[in-house]
Amino acid sequence: MPEVEQAPKLDQALAEVAAEMAERTDRGDVATYIPQLGKIDPKKFGIAAVTNDGRTLVAGDAEQAFSIQSISKVFTLTLALGNVGDALWKRVGREPSGNPFNSIVQLEHENGIPRNPFINAGAIVISDILLAGHQPREAIGEILRFIQFLADDETIIIDREVAASERATGYRNFALANYMKSFGNLYHAPELALGVYFHHCAIAMSCRQLAMAGRYLANGGKNPATGHSVVSSERARRIGAMMLTCGHYDGSGDFAFRVGIPGKSGVGGGILGIVPGVASLAVWSPGLNANGNSKLGSIALEKLARMMNWSIFAP
Ligand code: DON
Repeated sequence: MPEVEQAPKLDQALAEVAAEMAERTDRGDVATYIPQLGKIDPKKFGIAAVTNDGRTLVAGDAEQAFSIQSISKVFTLTLALGNVGDALWKRVGREPSGNPFNSIVQLEHENGIPRNPFINAGAIVISDILLAGHQPREAIGEILRFIQFLADDETIIIDREVAASERATGYRNFALANYMKSFGNLYHAPELALGVYFHHCAIAMSCRQLAMAGRYLANGGKNPATGHSVVSSERARRIGAMMLTCGHYDGSGDFAFRVGIPGKSGVGGGILGIVPGVASLAVWSPGLNANGNSKLGSIALEKLARMMNWSIFAP
């Protein structure tokens, strides 16, 4: 992926993709099971790229904050691996689930061990890991500060109304947490782990902020601006592998087939995409496809990757 040759085209490609997406009428359906998310204008579309050589390029509604939802699971996984290392994998698997993000069916057969850290059950266990030695308020603060640090932006906040809206309707997540507790795979009270979980899902970020936060994954674990290490290069690769295989739930194979880079979606309509060695990408379009992933966001990344010849499988 020779970056120098591609450099002049990227801003043009982003503008072209944003203009095309603005015209489309098949935008998918905004998530309504979290009532607060149902209020978002489905016409929004933003896209941002932060390159390893330090350029930030944006198009469309890239400065407007949206609910990052499950994209936050990339950052909580990173933090939890930092806290407990590979012991984490005793409590959470690393296989694609082939099921929707909120499915409960596999948990019974697999003794309360969630398939991967990105399905809701897995992320609730990760929240439980981050609670160790902390009050929920402190664990939530640690997650928010970590994301602010990654994005180099202290203005990033948690949308308390989204967190409250999700808690009020989060019956499935309560069921998942209680079920895992019955297998001994939650060490804290389910409502405490869920308190952390609902709040990190409710973090609000713009495409620009999200692409900034993903820089370490595009650059072998190091912040490309400062050279400071966030995680080892091996860990960055492994997080990328999890994103590729599990980041879009039962749509992960299709995303890998169409886009060819690691990505993580959220029901707020955002996707974080990583082009290793080249750039961190964020896209936002609130309407979702049948798998609960951003419909136009996936299409936009597919088009951008094709225009830029980006794929982790490219020679
Ligand atoms: O727990 C939930 O249902 C949401 N907070 C997060 C789900 C989500 O973002 C799935 N991603 N596409």
